[in-house]
Amino acid sequence: MVNRPVSDDSVSGAAAPLSRWTRDAASRIRRTERSVAPIVYPPEDVPNRDVHVWDTWLLRDRHGGVAEVDGWQVAFSLTASADLLPGTRHDVATVRYFYSRDGRNWRAGGRVFAEDRAFGQRQWAGSALYDDGDVYLYYTAAGEAEADELRYSQRIAGATGPTLRTDDGGVAFDGQWDHRVLLRPDGDYYETEQQSRAMTYTFRDPWFYEDPETGETCLLFEGNVPVPEGSDACGGDEDHQVYNGCVGVAVSPSGDPMDWELRPPILDGVCVNQELERPHVLHRDGSYYLFVSSHDHTFAPGIDGYDGLYGFVADSLGGPYRPLNDSGLVVTNPANAPFQTYSYMVVPHGEEVLVQNFFNFYDFAGESVDLIGELPEPEQRRRFGGTLGPTVRLGIDGDRTRVLGTLDAWHLPTADEPLPELGPDEPGTTRA
Ligand code: FRU
Repeated sequence: MVNRPVSDDSVSGAAAPLSRWTRDAASRIRRTERSVAPIVYPPEDVPNRDVHVWDTWLLRDRHGGVAEVDGWQVAFSLTASADLLPGTRHDVATVRYFYSRDGRNWRAGGRVFAEDRAFGQRQWAGSALYDDGDVYLYYTAAGEAEADELRYSQRIAGATGPTLRTDDGGVAFDGQWDHRVLLRPDGDYYETEQQSRAMTYTFRDPWFYEDPETGETCLLFEGNVPVPEGSDACGGDEDHQVYNGCVGVAVSPSGDPMDWELRPPILDGVCVNQELERPHVLHRDGSYYLFVSSHDHTFAPGIDGYDGLYGFVADSLGGPYRPLNDSGLVVTNPANAPFQTYSYMVVPHGEEVLVQNFFNFYDFAGESVDLIGELPEPEQRRRFGGTLGPTVRLGIDGDRTRVLGTLDAWHLPTADEPLPELGPDEPGTTRA
């Protein structure tokens, strides 16, 4: 493959300073009619009775458009046996896939990787690229397969090889996956597990994206910025310094989806938030919208944030980014059901955008979602959704967003399906 020209607006050529989600912006986070999604209840009829389903991503093309292969959409999800307590699912997560022709009825395709073939003790979130008939699956290899005890190390891995076979009955992967470790934290731009002074460490959630303006091939991911002891970051406040989440990026100079070089982060939340999860981008009207999920309990002391979708906008992929809605908050849960959904993915759909998410814990208003683990086991099970939540419809206008309404759980409309008219009671009737 040839090296592609790199323009000044590219991530590699950018002179843009690192964008920061500041404490000032984050201090403006409030629940408002524009950002609160309606209360939801778990659906009766789900295509995944046997497994918990959480982080989910659709098969997409190089520019983030949803791929339809012979009329099929394909979704990939982190899954674990539904017999497990919800809190332990992260320790055994594995990727399964689902497929649908109409974006409503999803059939389970089973595990993507045969047992013990993927890297890591378990696999965490990622993304999937469909390119000219080839499939690339990016994932987080969490822990080391050889280790006896559960570990939290994270590497970014990719797998390719099989062809996607479709027929009237469904979708299957034909052939062997070739797995490769693509990226490890370097300790300079991205904190290593050894350097971490925080409760959690992150180097995960790869998301493929080719910049439609510059043609640069990128892989975004969640990381942390090294903030050594004695640093003067956050005015020297050590309690704030451990909140050092960032959106990392790697580029592929040749465009090869399996060959990456680290670049500096495009956004950080130093002094603000420890986890900027599952970063992804939407290009719209010449602007780049960068979205992340984050938790109530990963905000630094003194900042009152929520489990929700947060977003930023810039004129180029490398930034500089401004927080959407002045604070960064885009979608959150109602105050009386603050953990009902999580792990948001924005999906383009014509003029609107859709926000796919999963049912997390409902009927629970504790201060931190971690406290759910202290409830009796039947209560933990009763309150956990473990399936996709209602898709949220979102309007975007410049730096402002607004929740317009919802579609059913598991409804991820195909590109040619018109969205229903917004009803008179839906918040979207007063437009953004
Ligand atoms: C978000 C997340 C991801 C990670 C996964 C692990 O829900 O924390 O960052 O890949 O869950 O289960």
